[in-house]
Amino acid sequence: MPDGKSLTNDRVAKRISRRTFIKGVITSGIAVSSTSYLFRATLSGQGTALLGERLITLYVNGQQRRVDAAKQETLAWTLRYKLGLTGTKLGCDRAECGSCTVLIDDVPYYSCSVLTHTVRARKVLTIEGLASPNGKLHPVQQGVVDEQGFQCAYCMPGFITAAVGYLKTNPNPTRTELAHGVSGNLCRCQDYDKILTSLMRGAEYMRRASHA
Ligand code: FES
Ligand code: FES
Repeated sequence: MPDGKSLTNDRVAKRISRRTFIKGVITSGIAVSSTSYLFRATLSGQGTALLGERLITLYVNGQQRRVDAAKQETLAWTLRYKLGLTGTKLGCDRAECGSCTVLIDDVPYYSCSVLTHTVRARKVLTIEGLASPNGKLHPVQQGVVDEQGFQCAYCMPGFITAAVGYLKTNPNPTRTELAHGVSGNLCRCQDYDKILTSLMRGAEYMRRASHA
């Protein structure tokens, strides 16, 4: 059984250890605060440096556009959420469906799988840039309007840009060739027959326009 003196010593020891504990918490709290402050300061320092690297100029639909794009940002993301060009659709976001197709230097690409920073010196064309400045539809767009080839039309911008890109390499395709040309694009409504009919009509309009 402990005597009164050792009980007092025990209490003093507990008080000291409690005081030490509280002091430790406060100290570590300050330490944490300082660390997070320093961390934030370091991050914000980096942020300023990064911003310099992230601000880039893109050439989209015939216009120079300044944009703040992270290094890992995809072109589809930049076009839709930074430049407001929402005609470019996101479906799978992993290079499977083609709904994000845009032309880069006249070649169709899945913009969900292209990093924005890699297209700085290149010409990007989205569905919004296909019509003439006076509002006249591109021949392929007109073909789609005339044949009413899509149901929900979510896949339409991707199909049209893919077709425009393909028709630059083969302006007078057979139906089968054109089907192969846009085979990287999927339609969830399964409207392929009418889509092909409208794209073939668009190809015909393109040939007529080039001979006009
Ligand atoms: S969203 Fe890019 S291929 Fe599907
Ligand atoms: S028309 Fe609906 S996804 Fe193609």
